[in-house]
Amino acid sequence: MDTLRALELRHSVRSFTDKPIEGDVLATLQKLVAEVNKEAGLHIQLVVNQPKAFDGFLASYGRFKNVQNYFAMVGPKKDAEKVGYYGQKLVLEAQKLGLNTCWVGGTHGKDNNAYEVGKKEKMHILIPVGYGTTQGNPHKGKGLDKLVKTGGGLDEDPAKWPEWFAAGADAALKAPTALNQQVFTLSLDKKDRVTIKESVGIMTGIDTGIVKYNFEVGAASKGCTKVQWAK
Ligand SMILES: Cc1cc2nc3c(=O)[nH]c(=O)nc-3n(C[C@H](O)[C@H](O)[C@H](O)COP(=O)(O)O)c2cc1C
Repeated sequence: MDTLRALELRHSVRSFTDKPIEGDVLATLQKLVAEVNKEAGLHIQLVVNQPKAFDGFLASYGRFKNVQNYFAMVGPKKDAEKVGYYGQKLVLEAQKLGLNTCWVGGTHGKDNNAYEVGKKEKMHILIPVGYGTTQGNPHKGKGLDKLVKTGGGLDEDPAKWPEWFAAGADAALKAPTALNQQVFTLSLDKKDRVTIKESVGIMTGIDTGIVKYNFEVGAASKGCTKVQWAK
């Protein structure tokens, strides 16, 4: 499965079967985590067979069922955007392996014995991963007219946008955001630089990273392998 297809099939899944993550699938995820940590300077940890962080009141309030495994998204305090970007990479790679995920910033408990958080680091967010009891459902989202600002390098008529930008924006619409808030806008200047702006919301740093990753996957499907981000 290619990454764009995984992006299209990914929806938040909050309920998991008993099937453990093991063998080649586990080894692949662990290798990916090690690669991402090396590239990004993060301290992400894959926690398996340790349900405690999703055993308590907050997790059941959040309708989480049978979460046995998760990525503990630990990293430098300032690196929320990186956590979003590289976390979404892990989410889409997990999807390709037949797994399901959900970003969880609020509705989880703690398990201090399951992952390490170094000095100057923070546990930004958890991402449950496992074999879902369902594949989830597409979120209801805002349209391109709300999320893309025309002008600069973008005509008012979406049919005249560069193909790579249109594909990137379409993939960005499908990105998970906290509370499905989608408080970002995308624009393009005359030098083909893309800007993403967040208005007021929660966890917008993480959202920005996730949206950027999705945008890049969409743009790459139309041959743009290096998106120039204006900020
Ligand atoms: C930064 C972030 C934090 C989130 N926190 C929670 C959470 O605490 N509890 C929860 O059930 N879902 C949480 N979600 C999942 C969103 O509600 C979900 O991604 C959004 O509704 C869009 O749905 P989709 O992922 O199926 O496309 C979070 C998502 C993001 C990106």
